[in-house]
Amino acid sequence: MKLNGELTDSLNFYMGHEPHDLIAKYGSPLYVYNERIFREKCRDFKHLCKYPKFVVNYAIKANSNLTLLKIAKQEGLRAEVTSIGEIELLLAAEYDACDIFFITNNATTAEMQYAIDKGITFSADSLSQLDRYGRLNFGGKVAARFNPGIGSGHHQGVVTGGEETKFGINESEIPQVKEILAKHNLTLIGINQHIGSYILDIKIFIDSVKRMLNIAANFDTLEFIDLGGGFGIPYHKQEGERPLDIAALGTALCEFMGDFSAKYGKQLTFMVEPGRYIAAESGVLLGNVTAIKYNAAKYIGTDLGFNVLMRPLLYDAYHGIEVYRNTTEETANTAQPPFPIKNEIVHIVGNICESGDYIAKNRNLPIIQEGDVLGVLDVGAYGFSMTSQYNQRLRPAEILIREDGAIQVIRRRDSYADLLRNMRVD
Ligand code: LLP
Repeated sequence: MKLNGELTDSLNFYMGHEPHDLIAKYGSPLYVYNERIFREKCRDFKHLCKYPKFVVNYAIKANSNLTLLKIAKQEGLRAEVTSIGEIELLLAAEYDACDIFFITNNATTAEMQYAIDKGITFSADSLSQLDRYGRLNFGGKVAARFNPGIGSGHHQGVVTGGEETKFGINESEIPQVKEILAKHNLTLIGINQHIGSYILDIKIFIDSVKRMLNIAANFDTLEFIDLGGGFGIPYHKQEGERPLDIAALGTALCEFMGDFSAKYGKQLTFMVEPGRYIAAESGVLLGNVTAIKYNAAKYIGTDLGFNVLMRPLLYDAYHGIEVYRNTTEETANTAQPPFPIKNEIVHIVGNICESGDYIAKNRNLPIIQEGDVLGVLDVGAYGFSMTSQYNQRLRPAEILIREDGAIQVIRRRDSYADLLRNMRVD
């Protein structure tokens, strides 16, 4: 029984499966994804612009589960990556090298060489990196990341444009870029930006696009302009927060693309790189309530430590929470009657040995009891991908509820043998 499950009910998220049954079968904590929702989000972006050379690169750092990568590919998305590991996963998911854009930060020579050998487009994000790439790949093609001077994001740690960041080449450095390109006979085929993560204000994004187009006008060899990702989702949707107006975003972007290409004299490819938007809302993290205790506040103890969801600790990020009760369990008899449902303010905490181990602070939720299962919403992006084995806890399984309601384990839960796997044991 769901005490406040309106959101997942309205989406038919679980498609008839009971959260308690799922963790009984696949273990707790558990990442649960809904295929239909993931596909819908891919399609939102795929159909964002009617511009003929509009490309969506899924930023796979948000969620790189192989099965989800394959679904994104089926939906016609390409991919943006930041590491060789991400590329290896994409190749395992049968992406072609030409569908992968490698946007690096402070790459090693080995990473550059890997891209060159595999024929993957490489973006350099500083003059020194561009120069180093040129030394390795004389006469080759390259992209460059520019910082358009504007940043945005839900937390200072994810703002990647403007003066206070390590990312990108500044507009004022264009003459040096040209010198380096000439020195190594490089062709600049693309420029890219990413101003930060979690943008709900389309205006900021559009302002950055205008600046990028000004930068683009300085180069006459471009084949593409990549406008980056960062598109937000409504984490407060239980309180009625509205989603990003992607129709308005699409209309505005489409106009820029057409106009700029006409001025440039060539139909350029325009790319965007959504990560969070594609994956976040298709995922819920389930966990067990294991203790109720009181200090200055009421604490709900769970197995949802920051090893399984890092965002609240790292960014003070908000995730909606649903409470599910197993009415068949003994504990249900000792609890307060479920109706009318009373709420109270609580902290939801995990099982890691640090006081920063919160899932939610001062949250107004139905009165929770031991044996309840919590569903942490919108964790499909930067949820599993940021998990760790801290405290030597096992990373959870990931399951996918297919469009027909069938369940597939798309990553098995870690085993204790996995903890030892790469260590010397003699
Ligand atoms: N492109 C580049 C070059 C990026 O660095 C990123 C994200 C993206 C695209 C996708 O951004 P998105 O559309 O997902 O906002 N761990 C943080 C988010 C970090 C984003 C890092 N870069 C979080 O949990 O909020």
